[in-house]
Amino acid sequence: MKIPFLNLQRQQKELLQPVQKLLTETMLEDILLGGKAVHTFEDKFARYLNVKYVIACANCTDALEIALRALQIGQGDEVIVPANGWMSAAEAVCLLGAVPVFVDSLVDRYTIDPDKIETKITSRTKAIIPIHLYGYGADMERIMGIAAAYGLKVIEDCAQAQGATIQGKKAGSWGDIAAFSFYPTKNLGAIGDAGALATNDEELSTTCRQIANHGQSGKNCHVRLGRNSRMDSFQAAVLSYKLGLLDQWNLRRRELAQRYNNALQPYYLHLPQEDEGYFHVYHLYVIRCADRKRLTKLLGEKGVGTAVHYPEAVADMQVFEAYSFADTPVASKQCHELLSLPLYPQLTDEEQMYIIEAMKEALSEMDQQIV
Ligand SMILES: Cc1ncc(COP(=O)(O)O)c(C=O)c1O
Repeated sequence: MKIPFLNLQRQQKELLQPVQKLLTETMLEDILLGGKAVHTFEDKFARYLNVKYVIACANCTDALEIALRALQIGQGDEVIVPANGWMSAAEAVCLLGAVPVFVDSLVDRYTIDPDKIETKITSRTKAIIPIHLYGYGADMERIMGIAAAYGLKVIEDCAQAQGATIQGKKAGSWGDIAAFSFYPTKNLGAIGDAGALATNDEELSTTCRQIANHGQSGKNCHVRLGRNSRMDSFQAAVLSYKLGLLDQWNLRRRELAQRYNNALQPYYLHLPQEDEGYFHVYHLYVIRCADRKRLTKLLGEKGVGTAVHYPEAVADMQVFEAYSFADTPVASKQCHELLSLPLYPQLTDEEQMYIIEAMKEALSEMDQQIV
């Protein structure tokens, strides 16, 4: 059997009919960007997250940059970012002339380690950007407590965590503002690029909406410098439709994750963890294996595709060399061991059983069995 790491086509085929209908409907509208479909999605997603305002935009990287600008973060300001994850948060900070200050990861959870945040706070620190990585929430209770104590803003990076909860509250409803990605492979993905901001702060929402649309407060009324970061009506219509499927897809992801956890427990691997009060949505099922290279090769020979998220810690990337002080050893080490196994709602039980058997055979060959 051949099982790719991700088979997005399966989902696309399932949705072909409703999506084609939405495309036809969109094409019969006059407004193809920012129209009725976009407002409908914003309202639906705000209700889903239990926040007051959602502002659609072109992608999550824009959303992060717009949020930082709306919070007036710029030249010389410092922003705390996780050492591990995707680079957009640190990238957006740098693009505004601010300084990303990397904080190491939790040993077993991969999100930012709250114990290590305070030592990195200076008089120039303005904000913290926690990333809810792989579908698992950062420790928002602790992070919000630190932010309140030091007067810092919190921008949640929720690109990988649509539907995840932390102490019963949705990821994206904790901080001052949150950024979402609807990149096609995400738990809630568009048929192209799309993103959004979520906040309970009316003024912040107005500012973000203006920045995302050339600084306009109304038609042809440019009250500030902004940019073009709009969501297509078609993407919004698709996202509204798919939002109705998100919870059931997330439950299916959890079911598959639980089966992997049960089957792989007897091996020398580090499996994903879920603390009480957290709802992991397994955007990725990421394990740690000391000999990742060999495991990847053996699985590949058995037809099982895998991926690495990510091969290098953001803090170790050459582009951020000027801001990094080699003081995030946990993230640096983990990057050599992380391995993502296939997990998506359309993966069949039969395929997963095949992957589990392939894992067991590979791990036995590697002498990785504990009991
Ligand atoms: C954690 C995280 N943040 C930000 C982004 C950027 O999202 P986008 O591609 O929508 O700009 C991604 C995308 O992979 C991500 O995984």
